[in-house]
Amino acid sequence: MRTPKAAETPHRALLWCGANPGIPAFASPKPTMTILPIKKYPEPILRKKSEEVKEVTPEIKKLIEEMIETMLKNNGIGLAAPQVGVSKRIIVAATQKDPLVFINPKILRKSKETELGEEGCLSFPGLYLKIKRPKFVEVGALDINGKKIRFETKELLSKSPVNERYPTGVILSRIIQHETDHLDGILIIDRISFWQRWKIRKTSKFTQVGPVSN
Ligand code: NI
Repeated sequence: MRTPKAAETPHRALLWCGANPGIPAFASPKPTMTILPIKKYPEPILRKKSEEVKEVTPEIKKLIEEMIETMLKNNGIGLAAPQVGVSKRIIVAATQKDPLVFINPKILRKSKETELGEEGCLSFPGLYLKIKRPKFVEVGALDINGKKIRFETKELLSKSPVNERYPTGVILSRIIQHETDHLDGILIIDRISFWQRWKIRKTSKFTQVGPVSN
């Protein structure tokens, strides 16, 4: 996921301001890491359902490190493995502190309360859409060491300092939902109304965005 336009001032340093105990954080990537090419819509892999990760091998850890580096280099705030051409259930998200990693993420609970917010996607350069999603979620996943974790976005909000790039925990909740959607081949263009989709076809370069199917 990309930073919403309004908040697109880079404060990258804030992403690396130290460890975040109790949160499945991952160490900052080394500066020499590979930046992976991002798959853009309509590449078929973006529509595929990704496979579960059976074991967190050194190759998977390397992929995760590269995904984090790729996300940050592209000014992204979230990234899913299919976006770098790997059909596996892995997502990463940027926070005020260390980036978060979720392997085989599953949204266990959603708040009844929803919120409309602007989202971009690294696979749809230049496209920003208003999407309604639950305000908070609870997610079950494996962490980078293959350990089971449960994670509530509301909880992170109360533990984290506020800054202008990530004004509330709501944005993290949105990132997790957006990236988990990617693992099932669901894209932002599937989460909008008929009229928004019609407008995309008429006014953006994404003229292949198909008819409403949801
Ligand atoms: Ni995306």
